[in-house]
Amino acid sequence: MNTWVIIPAAGSGERMKVDVPKVFLKIGDWPVIVHALDAFEKCSLIDGIILVGPEEHLKALEGIVREAGFKKIRRVVAGGATRTQSVRHGLKALDKDVDVVLVHDGARPLVTPAIIEESIKACSVSGAVVVAVPVKPTLKVVDPRTRVVSETLDRTLVWEVQTPQVFKREIIERAYGGDENATDDAALVERLGIPVSVCMGDHRNIKITTPEDLVIAEALLRSRDTYH
Ligand code: C5P
Repeated sequence: MNTWVIIPAAGSGERMKVDVPKVFLKIGDWPVIVHALDAFEKCSLIDGIILVGPEEHLKALEGIVREAGFKKIRRVVAGGATRTQSVRHGLKALDKDVDVVLVHDGARPLVTPAIIEESIKACSVSGAVVVAVPVKPTLKVVDPRTRVVSETLDRTLVWEVQTPQVFKREIIERAYGGDENATDDAALVERLGIPVSVCMGDHRNIKITTPEDLVIAEALLRSRDTYH
């Protein structure tokens, strides 16, 4: 099996309230994107990496990954206006003989080689897998106009989806074949009517979205030795 990961990292720093791409921000000694790449570099089941970066910062991104000395990065390509478009650009850059495709948010620096390995193994059984965790809080559906609660969800049935998401190549290529948009990859696969299985993730595999996430990620990184 030739297994590659596409890492969309072309988001802006808008919700982080910074002018640089958020994956350039440092956690500990390294930028967010270097932490994410390091887990894939260390996972023996990963053969190649396509990194999708912000068009106007591609040179800087290439410099960062060169300095870190990664060996598995096959291509660094420019992203698009949405995550979906960025992944689409990544799919076009895959080698012909790739069989299994992972997608991982560049903004999730705390993913581990163990999570990646489990998700790839699960995909060999079901063909379409998302890493996810059962939600901890009570979740309610709220009318956006009146702010009145319309429903309380049964939290034993609700999972928070993370990445990596893993697919047989033909499935993800079909899912991305149209011009639809989605906030994750599995949603496009679900729309084809293809079952997507869940693989247990880790609550520490957070996505850096707003400034407080950097503080949490720093703390989690420091405590890493206790959970690896
Ligand atoms: O915006 P959000 O945090 O959901 O983005 C998830 C991932 O998708 C991030 O790693 C981000 O860099 C990436 N992204 C992208 N291209 C975009 C928007 C987001 O590659 N246009």
